[in-house]
Parts: sequence; C-alpha cells; structure tokens
Amino acid sequence: PLVTGKELVSMADKGGYAIGAFNVNNLEIIKAILEAAEEENSPAILQASQGAIKYAGIDFISAMVKAAADQTSVPLALHLDHGTSFDQNMECIRKGFTSVMFDGSKYSLEENIKRTREVVRVGQATNVSVEGELGKIAGTEDDISVDEKDAYMTKPEEAKKFVDETEVDYLAVAIGTAHGPYKGEPKLDFDRLANIKKTTDIPLVLHGASGVSEDSIRKAIELGICKVNIDTNLRQAFTSGLKNVISEKPEEYDPRKLLGPAKDNMKEVIKEKMRLFGSSGKA
Ligand code: G3H
Ligand code: 13P
Ligand code: ZN
Repeated sequence: PLVTGKELVSMADKGGYAIGAFNVNNLEIIKAILEAAEEENSPAILQASQGAIKYAGIDFISAMVKAAADQTSVPLALHLDHGTSFDQNMECIRKGFTSVMFDGSKYSLEENIKRTREVVRVGQATNVSVEGELGKIAGTEDDISVDEKDAYMTKPEEAKKFVDETEVDYLAVAIGTAHGPYKGEPKLDFDRLANIKKTTDIPLVLHGASGVSEDSIRKAIELGICKVNIDTNLRQAFTSGLKNVISEKPEEYDPRKLLGPAKDNMKEVIKEKMRLFGSSGKA
C-alpha cells in the first residue's frame, strides 16, 4: 500500500534504521524498486525530482507509483524530492503524493522558515509529510576553510529553531555529502550530525549518499539519519547493466530485452542498499 513518508521514517527513527529514498522517473526504475522491496521485505520511498516530473509527467509518475503500491503488501511512499516552489508542492499533494520536500536552502533562515511553514500547514491539513532543508548540500572541496564549511553546513542551533517554527516531519542536513559522483571519499561531520539530532530530536535525512562508504552510512544512521536519498549509484547500475547487454547482444532490437537486464542490475544495487540501511525485513 501507499502510506505517508512520516509513517515509514518515524518507524525507522524508533527502530534505529533508515528508509531508502530512491529517485524514479520511468517504469523500469519503479519496477526495480518494487521488486527489490518485495524480495527484501523492505519499506521504501519512491521520490521524483522536478527534473523527473518534467521528463515523465506528474500524472504518469503518480499513476505508476500508485499501481506499484496497490499491488504489493510492502509499504511504499511517494515523495517530491527538492521541490523549490510552493505551487509545485501543492500540485504534488493534489496528485496523491504522500510526502513532499520544500527545499528552501537557498533562502535566508527566516525566509526558509516562512516558506517551509506554508507548505507544512497544508501538509498537516492533508496528511502529507513534509521534509525541509537547512544548510547547503553541495560540493565539499578539500581547500575549503572551516569558516566557509560552517557557512554551508547545517548549524545545530539554527536547526532547532527551524524545526520548532516550521514543524517539518523530517529535516535534510548538510554534513559533508554532495549530490552526484564524488572525486574522492567524502568526509562526514559526525559531531555536527550528533549535535543536530540532540537539539532537534526529529528524523534526519541524508542526501547525496551515492559513493559514501558503507561504514560512514552505518555511522550516520546510528547518529540519527532515518531517510537516505540515493540516486547516482542506481543510475550507474542501470546504465552499466544496459551497456553490458548491448555489448553482449549487439543484434538485439527489442527494448524490453535491453531494459529488463538493466532494471535487474539496478534492483541488485537497491537490495544491497536496503540491507545496508537496515530496512530489509522491516516491511
Ligand atoms: O537530487 C538530485 C537527484 O539525484 C535527482 O536528480 O534533478 O537530475 O532528476 P535530477
Ligand atoms: P545522489 O545522486 O548523490 O545519490 O543524491 C541523491 C539525492 O540526494 C536526491 O535528493
Ligand atoms: Zn538531494
């Protein structure tokens, strides 16, 4: 069934594990997640970015995810990833998303609070969970100074104010990860994460989890991360699967025989992530 994001993430918070939030934009990706969730008996969040909505169309994404959720006993949530406008958040709520993200990280603290709060008010009235973001999740360069780092990373005192005033259900934090592939191994600021968890006491979200070491992911979950956003590693698995089958069968012309194995390769990576996050067996 389709459930709210909060239901899944709160359970993970209590249970000391994390829910994988996997980006979707087509049928094969949705099937890869559905099959992985069933085989692992794991809950999962399927999330669509603004780019995904532009690519597939909101009605297609919403209908495909609902079809997946209707035919399975594992609980799934449909989430908007990095929604940057109020209107887009509202459209997703209208179209049956059970969780949305208002990403106001580019605004000042006060402006971010004001805009996020507006979305939360509607979320509370419609039983749709809301994720906020504080700090900037971007590239972390080795030559960046501590002061600069502090300016981009989430500050625990600000996080407390943000959470109290917006009443978000979960908070995305900037603790050293970045979106997309990394050049080197990212170093996470675990002290900062522990402090944010202590001051806010709400479920925290890790973005840009592709390429982060398994040990770091485990430690982040121990310290309070309950939702892990991961996309790049899944895309890489799909595309390497696709390239392999094309080189093994250069005469093949049926898209299903190319996309099927690519989907299966992606599914295996999703299953590994579910085991790593500790959500396997928790459906
Ligand atoms: O946060 C970014 C996700 O990986 C989605 O990326 O905007 O290319 O769909 P996208
Ligand atoms: P990666 O693509 O780096 O795994 O990040 C995914 C993400 O944070 C989506 O919001
Ligand atoms: Zn993200």
